[in-house]
Amino acid sequence: MARVALVTGGTRGIGAAISTKLKAEGYEVAASFAGNEDAAATFTAETGIQTFKWNVADYDASTAGIAAVEAALGPIDVVVANAGITRDAPFHKMTPEQWHEVIDTNLTGVFNTVHPVWPGMRERKFGRVIVISSINGQKGQFAQVNYAATKAGDLGIVKSLAQEGARAGITANAICPGYIATEMVMAIPEEIRNKIVAGIPAGRLGEPEEIARCVAFLASDDAGFMNGSTISANGAQFFV
Ligand code: CAA
Repeated sequence: MARVALVTGGTRGIGAAISTKLKAEGYEVAASFAGNEDAAATFTAETGIQTFKWNVADYDASTAGIAAVEAALGPIDVVVANAGITRDAPFHKMTPEQWHEVIDTNLTGVFNTVHPVWPGMRERKFGRVIVISSINGQKGQFAQVNYAATKAGDLGIVKSLAQEGARAGITANAICPGYIATEMVMAIPEEIRNKIVAGIPAGRLGEPEEIARCVAFLASDDAGFMNGSTISANGAQFFV
């Protein structure tokens, strides 16, 4: 029977590439989205992947959404916590609202996504938890105190989950994408974006599919002994 994968924020950007790749690999895929109904409908029309709407920042909504996914597709074997937002501002201008919005979505959202599927994975003695972190959680980033804090937090989450899940056949790993050609990166003012690209030794932005292929590997049986790891995919922009 096909394994079931949930990708949060799975209808756009890196998440859409992950959903599509996992479907191509033979998984039954569910893609969650927070608000963009048009993008979700287009995504389903193009890929045949079912979408489910909930806000990952809300624990009860996540629990209900995950229950709906499991009712439709079966127990979740692979969870990809990908949903994330930016609210960039230099620290002296960052508001408490910008701080909390990003923490609630990007960090608490990972808890809200993994916590409801964790007991089932423990019972079935199999699970793959893959968290999409960021190069900016590794190196920090001007105007991203909030975002970098959440992405660094992701690495602590997977290292802890890895230790708790290992005996139960569950792995938890993170991927730190560098700058990838998505709406989020294209929203950076052009002059600043050009400077960023100039600082990437590969000389280009990454493609969402390059992250999706890393996810497919971590989800596979081949990656069973990789646990608590961080894969950096950033065109040689930063080394840990
Ligand atoms: N490094 C150094 N200085 C920077 C900078 C950077 N990366 N980005 C902006 N600045 C500077 C500007 O040049 C400007 O300097 P001057 O005052 O000397 O002209 C100053 O900071 C901007 O100050 P402002 O008070 O005018 O800033 P603002 O309130 O208008 O905010 C901004 C501007 C939102 C910070 C905008 O510069 C921006 O979007 N910067 C990019 C931030 C960024 O790289 N975010 C990453 C998004 S991609 C992502 O998050 C995906 C991922 O995981 C990789």
